[in-house]
Amino acid sequence: MAFSLFKKSEKKEETHSGPRYYDLKVKNIVQETKDAISIVFEQPSSAKIAYKSGQFLTLIVTIQGKEVRRAYSLCSSPFVDEHLAVSVKRVDNGLMSNWLPDNLKAGATVKVMEPMGQFTTEFSKEKKRHLILFAGGSGITPMMSIIKSLLTQEPDSIVSLIYCNRNIESVIFKDELSSLETKYEGRLHIIHVLDEAPMNWQGYSGLLNHDMLVKLFERIPNWGIDKSTYLMCGPEGMMKNVESILEEHKISRDKVFKESFVTGTIAKEEKKEAAVSENKAHEVTIRYDGQEYKILVQPNRAILETALDAGIDLPYSCQSGLCTACRGKALSGKVKLDEEEGLSQSERAEGYVLTCVGHPLTDDVVIEIG
Ligand SMILES: Cc1cc2nc3c(=O)[nH]c(=O)nc-3n(C[C@H](O)[C@H](O)[C@H](O)COP(=O)(O)OP(=O)(O)OC[C@H]3O[C@@H](n4cnc5c(N)ncnc54)[C@H](O)[C@@H]3O)c2cc1C
Ligand code: FES
Repeated sequence: MAFSLFKKSEKKEETHSGPRYYDLKVKNIVQETKDAISIVFEQPSSAKIAYKSGQFLTLIVTIQGKEVRRAYSLCSSPFVDEHLAVSVKRVDNGLMSNWLPDNLKAGATVKVMEPMGQFTTEFSKEKKRHLILFAGGSGITPMMSIIKSLLTQEPDSIVSLIYCNRNIESVIFKDELSSLETKYEGRLHIIHVLDEAPMNWQGYSGLLNHDMLVKLFERIPNWGIDKSTYLMCGPEGMMKNVESILEEHKISRDKVFKESFVTGTIAKEEKKEAAVSENKAHEVTIRYDGQEYKILVQPNRAILETALDAGIDLPYSCQSGLCTACRGKALSGKVKLDEEEGLSQSERAEGYVLTCVGHPLTDDVVIEIG
C-alpha cells in the first residue's frame, strides 16, 4: 500500500482546484551508478516549490511524439538542499527510465507536476522516535530525503537503514550515506545487504529473506521499542518478506508504511481478468476545475484513459493505482478499482477512487476531482 505516514495532505485554499505544472530547468545530472542518475532541478526564482520529504515529482516528457509521464521520488530534502532532485534507475526495456539518462542534458527544461504523495511525515524537534527503513535499489530515493530531514530536524530521533542491492556497484548514494553515518554517528545506522557480495565483504549477502531479517533485527538498536516506525520501498518480494516478519513480531500495522514503485506482478494479471469480466459501458460524470464532463466508459477501459482520449486534461502520473495523483471522490454510483493499494481504508470508505484503475459499474457515477 502506498502509505500515508502520519498525516494526509491538507486541501489547498485556492480557486484553481487542479494540480500546478512547472517548467523546471535541469541544473545538472549526476551519474550515481552505472544505471542510475540524479537529476537536479533549479528551484524557480519567482516562487520556490514546496514539498515534503517522501513526495514525488511527475516528469512529463515527449518521447517519440507521445507525452509520457512517470513518478520519481524526490531524494532532496526541503530542509537541507537548495534545489530539487530526483534519482532515476534504468529499468530493462523501460521507456522513460532509459530516455532520461540517454537524452536529458543540463540546461534543458522539463515539465513537471507539483510534488504529490502521502509517503510523508511531519518533522519536529520535540519528537523522539526511531525510523527503521527498508530500501531496495531505487527505493532508496524517498528514504534519502527522509533521512536527511530527520537527522537535521529531530536531534533526539534516530534512523536505521537496511539497504538491499544487487552488488556494490549498484548502491545509489553509497558515499553520501557513508558520510552521513560518520557525521551523525550513533543516530544513523546503515546495514547494506548485497545479492552478490565482493571478496572480503564484511556485510550481509543474499536475498532479504526471513532468516536474514531475523539476524538483521538483532543488529538494529532498540528496534522493538514503541517509538519505532517502519518504512519500506523496494521490490515486491522484499517488501512482502519485511511485512511478514513485522507481522510475526506483532508490530502494529499502523506503524508500518510502504511505498510501491510498481504494481504487484501476481495480483496484476488476476485484476486484469476481473476488470474485463464486466461487459457493459457506463456513463461517468466528471467534475474537475470548475467544469463538468460526461464520458462513456467501455467495459475494459479505465475512467482516466477514456477521459484523456476525450481530451479532458485530468491529473495523473503512474497510471497504475499507486501514486494517487488521479484521485477523485465518487459522489454517487459504484466504481470498481483494479488496484486499491494507493488508497487507505478510510479513503475508500469515504468514497475516494483512483480514476486510472477505476471502472464504473453503474450509470450514475459522478466523480469530483481536486
Ligand atoms: C510513487 C512512485 C515513485 C517512484 N519513484 C521512483 C524513483 O525515485 N526512482 C525510480 O527510478 N523510479 C521511481 N518510480 C518508478 C517510475 O515511475 C517508473 O515506473 C520507472 O522509471 C519505469 O518507467 P519506464 O518508463 O522506464 O518503464 P515502462 O516503460 O513503464 O515499463 C517497462 C517494464 O518495466 C516494468 N517496470 C516498471 N517499473 C519498474 C521497476 N521500478 N522495477 C522493475 N520493473 C519495472 C513494467 O512493469 C514494464 O513491464 C516511482 C514510481 C511511483 C509510482
Ligand atoms: S495515476 Fe497514479 S494512482 Fe492513478
